[in-house]
Amino acid sequence: MWIYEKKLQYPVRVCKCDPKMAKFLLEQYGGADGELAAALRYLNQRYTIPNKVIGLLTDIGTEEFAHLEMIATMVYKLTKDASPEELEAAGLGAHFANHDSALFYSNAAGVPWTATYIQAKGDPIADLYEDIAAEEKARATYQWLIDMTDDPDLQDSLKFLREREVVHSQRFREAVEILKEERDRKKIF
Ligand SMILES: [Fe+2]
Repeated sequence: MWIYEKKLQYPVRVCKCDPKMAKFLLEQYGGADGELAAALRYLNQRYTIPNKVIGLLTDIGTEEFAHLEMIATMVYKLTKDASPEELEAAGLGAHFANHDSALFYSNAAGVPWTATYIQAKGDPIADLYEDIAAEEKARATYQWLIDMTDDPDLQDSLKFLREREVVHSQRFREAVEILKEERDRKKIF
């Protein structure tokens, strides 16, 4: 079970209304390497991963939901004062026609999230390598997003998220080493 804490993991502030940037941020909301995909990938993999790393997947999967909440807050704040005309000019016309200003799990190009973005191979090493790759791809996307905005407040929150991806990648790499060590030890009788 989870206990909800009613605050963001890290503050989200924006300097201006910027629906175009909100559209790009959707890549980390409902995109292949986004936060929803990350949370669902890790929490689902827990059931067949060795006991030693279940806690890690629970911790990181849970934290990804906190990141999803931060991205949602960014998108909301960047679009809440935009007129329909401004949303359309930012490429969000089709989104507005379907969802008004509600968020939806799609990527920056408007493609809906799909379970095909995530994997569960059942082989712990294969799954953890996928997780490491996912973290590195998310880190790269955050870097591109930081480069695409001149809003220092938004950059600050995005930099926090980028750093968390680095930490997650390192922790998954450690988990691979733990499992490899255990696997190799079993061969010695
Ligand atoms: Fe992550």
